[in-house]
Amino acid sequence: MTKAPTEVTARACANIALAKYWGKADAKKNIPAVPSISLTLDQLVTETRVRFDTELAEDDVRLDGRRATADEKDRVVKMLNSIRREAGLRARAHVASHNYFPTAAGLASSASGFAALAASASAAAGLRSSPRRLSALARASSVSAARSIFGGFVELPAGVRGQGDLHARPIAAPDHWKVRLVIAVTEPGPKKVGSTEGMERSKKTSPYYDAWVADAPKWARQIKRAIKERDLDTLGVAMERSTFAFHCCAMTSEPAILYWAPATLAALGTVRGLRERGVSTWATMDAGPHVKALCGIGDAARVRQALDRTPGVTRTWVAKPGPAVEVHS
Ligand code: DP6
Repeated sequence: MTKAPTEVTARACANIALAKYWGKADAKKNIPAVPSISLTLDQLVTETRVRFDTELAEDDVRLDGRRATADEKDRVVKMLNSIRREAGLRARAHVASHNYFPTAAGLASSASGFAALAASASAAAGLRSSPRRLSALARASSVSAARSIFGGFVELPAGVRGQGDLHARPIAAPDHWKVRLVIAVTEPGPKKVGSTEGMERSKKTSPYYDAWVADAPKWARQIKRAIKERDLDTLGVAMERSTFAFHCCAMTSEPAILYWAPATLAALGTVRGLRERGVSTWATMDAGPHVKALCGIGDAARVRQALDRTPGVTRTWVAKPGPAVEVHS
């Protein structure tokens, strides 16, 4: 007997890595070679609705109201296939996903996107997957998505080849620490080199890749301890080192991957200048030119104003610790 069709919506937030992930131990199974630690962010949300339909000939995937491209659809279908296998289901699915990111964000939505898809499609298929199982499922599509299943401060250990059940786990709830992330957008447009491609290139060609993999766990340990102790200065030093080390690894790849724009340097200078004037604020960057500054709640307005006035910064906004993935039917 077929079950009555259920439509399920899930809502997931993006996250920012405080200790960066860059490099895979197993590209096929999407296993990270280094541990990472993140903060889930409340303002950057993806909402995904899924319904399995026995009448459907193939999966129908829509992103922000348009039909998904072939590449986008392939990644979604891959996750749906693994859910169908687990649920013993053959029906194809309607998938509609919307990003509620501030406009012109220029920020990645794959973490929130795959976390929302894992939760909505698993529930729509009738599975009662634990958050850990959802995290492993999301990780198989995009490593950073594993962390967006949980709210607040989250860690994802490094894995080994074939470790298909590797998942993230929470370190501290969103209200553990009143920090803010000030996001400074420097340049619109998509990333020059996607992270998946970039990190594979670093692994194959950067002479610094092995050093990065050897050092990354040390920064992750320092960052985890600093989160527990709510020690922003210790966290900040380790977070900047993690960011700059991964960017060095990218820059020394062949051909070089340079995500930085002139405004990136200007914004990093602003963050450093604020510190020299006694504000505890620290920068991190992802696979793109934008700068994100972590600070205490009391300094957020000042940090934002300084970044807003930085030449080349086109937009800023302030995000706070956000919740775990939520499912509604
Ligand atoms: C620089 O999670 O997008 O943002 O697993 O290949 O999908 P795939 O990579 P992805 O990489 C994110 C890299 C990063 C750092 C981080 O978020 O940890």
